[in-house]
Amino acid sequence: MRLENQIAIVTGSGGAGGIGEAIARRFVSEGAKVVVCDIDEEKAQAVAGALGPNATPWACDVSRSDQVEAMVAGVVPMFGRLDILVNNVGFTVPGFLRDLGDEAWHHVLNGCLSSTFYGIRAALKPMREQKSGSIINISSAAGIGGAPGLGAYGAAKAGVVSLTQTAAVENFKSGVRVNCVLPNAATKSLTAWFDATESGRKTRAAIEAYSRCGSPEEIAAAVLFLASDDSAYVNGTVLPVDGGLSSRVACIDATIE
Ligand SMILES: NC(=O)c1ccc[n+]([C@@H]2O[C@H](COP(=O)([O-])OP(=O)(O)OC[C@H]3O[C@@H](n4cnc5c(N)ncnc54)[C@H](O)[C@@H]3O)[C@@H](O)[C@H]2O)c1
Repeated sequence: MRLENQIAIVTGSGGAGGIGEAIARRFVSEGAKVVVCDIDEEKAQAVAGALGPNATPWACDVSRSDQVEAMVAGVVPMFGRLDILVNNVGFTVPGFLRDLGDEAWHHVLNGCLSSTFYGIRAALKPMREQKSGSIINISSAAGIGGAPGLGAYGAAKAGVVSLTQTAAVENFKSGVRVNCVLPNAATKSLTAWFDATESGRKTRAAIEAYSRCGSPEEIAAAVLFLASDDSAYVNGTVLPVDGGLSSRVACIDATIE
C-alpha cells in the first residue's frame, strides 16, 4: 500500500468514468482516505458510495474560494491532517478566440485556473504546518501548445503549469511538493466525441497515426507516483502522460530511409 492512512482530496472526482474518479479509486486501493469533491453532490455521493468507507463525498464548487477554504477547513479537523490535494477540475467551452465571449473566457479561467490557485493556497496552510504534503495539478497538453478552439482552456492550463512551478519553488524545504500532470485523450466521453464528429474523427486519426488514446487509469498511475513517497525527489515537474504525443514536432514528418 503506497498511501497507507494518507488523507487526500481529489476535486472533480464525482465524474463517473473521469480522471478524478480513477484517481480517487486508485488512492483508496492504495490505503488512502479520500474526499470525493464535486460540484454535483449526488455524483460525489455515488462515487464515494461505490468506493466504500474510505471515501467521503464533499460538495464544493472549486471556482469559489470561500467554498474551497471551507472544504479544507472542514477536512483537516475531521481527519487530523491533509496529505494530498489533486486539483483535477477542468473543462472547456469550445470556440475560436475571435468568437469567444467574456463570459465563456471567465468561466473557463475560473473553473480551471482560479480553482487551482484556491486549492493550492488553502492546502498550503495545513501542509506547511505539518511539514509535508503533495499537491498535484491536472493541466493538459493544450497548456503547452496551441490547440484550435481551446484558447481559454489552453491559457488556463498553461497557467496551471506556471502555478505549479511557482508553488514548488516558493515552498522548497517546507516538505510540500507541487507537481503537475498533462493528460491527453484519456476518457470515454472524450473518445466518444472523436467518433461522433468529423473534427473528432480527424483528431483521433492524428493521435493514432503516432500513438494512441490513454485511459483514466493510466493518468491515475502517474498521479499516484507524484502523490506517494516514490516521488520524494520530484518537485515542480510538468509530466505529460500522453503516449509521447506532446514531445513530437508536428510539422516534421520525415522517415529515415
Ligand atoms: N479527458 C481527457 O482526456 C483530458 C485530457 C487532458 C486534460 N484533461 C483534464 O483532466 C481533468 C479531468 O478531466 P475529465 O475529462 O476526467 O473530467 P470530467 O468532465 O469527466 O469530470 C470533471 C468533474 O468535475 C466536476 N466539476 C466541474 N466543475 C466543477 C467545479 N466548479 N467544482 C467542483 N467540481 C466541478 C464535474 O461535475 C465532473 O464530475 C480536467 O482538468 C481536464 O481538463 C482531461
